Amino acid sequence: MIEIKQLIRPNILALKPYSSSRELHSGREGILLDANENPYGMLNRYPDPYQRALKNKLAIFKGVAQENIFFGNGSDEVIDLAFRIFCNPTVDKALTFSPTYGMYSVSAAINNIELISLPLGNDFQINMDKLSTYFNDTRIKLIFICSPNNPTGNLINNSDIMFIINKFKGIVIIDEAYIDFANTDSFINLLHSHNNLIVMQTFSKAWGLASARLGMAYSNKEIISVYNRVKPPYNVSEMNQQAAIDVLENLENYREKLALINKEKERLKSKLKTINCVKKIYPSDANFLLIEVTDANRLYKYLVTQRIIIRNRDTQIANCLRISIGTAYENEKLINALRIYI
Ligand SMILES: Cc1ncc(COP(=O)(O)O)c(C=O)c1O
Repeated sequence: MIEIKQLIRPNILALKPYSSSRELHSGREGILLDANENPYGMLNRYPDPYQRALKNKLAIFKGVAQENIFFGNGSDEVIDLAFRIFCNPTVDKALTFSPTYGMYSVSAAINNIELISLPLGNDFQINMDKLSTYFNDTRIKLIFICSPNNPTGNLINNSDIMFIINKFKGIVIIDEAYIDFANTDSFINLLHSHNNLIVMQTFSKAWGLASARLGMAYSNKEIISVYNRVKPPYNVSEMNQQAAIDVLENLENYREKLALINKEKERLKSKLKTINCVKKIYPSDANFLLIEVTDANRLYKYLVTQRIIIRNRDTQIANCLRISIGTAYENEKLINALRIYI
């Protein structure tokens, strides 16, 4: 077990958090004259700062305790808070693997933290020999592993992640934003045995709630309680909490849409194989496909003229484009546009 307190910034350990009205009195009963709210209206009351009703539902669905769940204003808030909790600006460092999700480096830069970025190797897997040389650097407080990885779409080898969690003396953050699309278990299952683990998931992808801005951190009680102390008191709006409760109460729809997206991914993949300019389709455990084409910049611009917007990843991986899986209609439009591209 790792001594978590030793990894937390001293000013955060010493922090006396803001005590909100709705924390002192969480119920809605009685005459509420405590929070300087407007007594009129539908959205006039502050939301539950700890999102208890939502946590209750998610805890049952995920098979974890409520005290192991933190909700951020999107995963992006979970990432930002990790830097703020564990990394002393200009002193500490974090590490990740490239290419990957861009917010780790943006958040690191905002917090004035050096982010070491090790290039992924064959099949976009971690070069473990290279990584091992960094394990003794006690200034590295965080390792971000995105699995399935964005934009490459692949899962990172389970055994490599296990090795990192076991050997690294800092915090390992596994970003599982796309885990619902992958046929694999979540690392949430290891929370009880590894106290240096934070698993991130989100309502933005498989749950279809990108607009609601709800990202999760699953971790041990100690880390979650620090997250709760540092976050803005009302970081998730009542409407957004309710939107997530609604989707958790309609699991049939979640499963149906997930199956539909996976089916469309296979269909799109088989159609893309017949398109001349498509040189390679990378295996994907996510809701997008990474493809290599003859000239990514040219093809990207052409699709924009057809009012089809995909993501040009040429600066990260030469001549590669990332395509989110759309509806059957949207995917068909894309294929038709590609068929007439010369
Ligand atoms: C790997 C990864 N993590 C997190 C996010 C963002 O999640 P959220 O919408 O919860 O901030 C994305 C968004 O594209 C992503 O690709």
